[in-house]
Amino acid sequence: VSRIGVLTSGGDSPGMNAAIRAVVRTGIYNGLEVYGIMRGYQGLIEDDIYKMEGRSVANIIQRGGTILKTARCKIFHTAEGRRKAYEILQRRGIDGLVIIGGDGSFRGAVEFSKEFDIPCIGIAGTIDKDIAGTDFTIGFDTAVNTAVEAIDKIRDTADAHDRLFIIEVMGRDAGYIALHSGIATGAENILIPEQKTDIEDVIASLQEKERRKKLVNLIVVAEGDEFGGANEVAKAVKERLPQTETRVCILGHIQRGGAPTCLDRLIASRMGYHAVESLIEGRHNVFVGIQNNKMNYVPLDKVHKKKSTISDEWMKIVKILAS
Ligand code: F6P
Repeated sequence: VSRIGVLTSGGDSPGMNAAIRAVVRTGIYNGLEVYGIMRGYQGLIEDDIYKMEGRSVANIIQRGGTILKTARCKIFHTAEGRRKAYEILQRRGIDGLVIIGGDGSFRGAVEFSKEFDIPCIGIAGTIDKDIAGTDFTIGFDTAVNTAVEAIDKIRDTADAHDRLFIIEVMGRDAGYIALHSGIATGAENILIPEQKTDIEDVIASLQEKERRKKLVNLIVVAEGDEFGGANEVAKAVKERLPQTETRVCILGHIQRGGAPTCLDRLIASRMGYHAVESLIEGRHNVFVGIQNNKMNYVPLDKVHKKKSTISDEWMKIVKILAS
């Protein structure tokens, strides 16, 4: 390769900028030209592309969001959209692509790579941490720490009023954010999509806490929980325990912003570096994961969702420590 493009696609995640910085600087270090593609595949199809220099990525390692902006692009899922993208890459002489995004963005690259011979390398950037083949995805650590900070604050007011709070966190159809933030904040109940929610169990545990005069209760619910999220859980609790003062808090997009944590900056830098090295070494259509502290190259067409699981050990720890 001699000229590579880099884009961010799908939901943004804190640390994407650190990854862009790593791609640009590693590329330039190796004598490549690096082009920034704006707004993901959308900007690619619209030829919204500019040449980046080492200085283009100065002062961004600490910033959330993405300087390249991002989009969820429908046209790229059509053969016509992908042809247009290919023509633009051809015209510009771009012969390798780095795609920073989640599994949806990787699926777009799979289609593209079946039709055209431009090597694509993926970097897992999503707060949901729902991609198999990597222990980390860029943004999860920041998002989960943001959730922990927010839930700690909620605990203060919950304690002041002796209230039950039902807090909804993001994660699409995975429960990682709920699981990690729930354990770290001492939540009494954690409801995740990967596990059947037995509302009777939740009610019973609240009754038991009430009996023992434990008045502050936090329930952390993943947005994808099959029970239907925090509002539905609150409804069920109110029906069964009308005397319990309950409030709902949906944390929402606060979890997507903010300065990336040290961990997210580290993995973004490492993955960005290895993405470019991969293109130079001639790898095709893989994403760069980290597993057991080693790089793991997973074919993009093998990418699949990883769901969180709560082991029996953790289940026991949560129950004992929240009692
Ligand atoms: O994939 C990241 C994520 O933040 C999910 O946790 C959430 O379900 C979704 O994106 C929200 O998407 P949008 O920003 O388009 O509302």
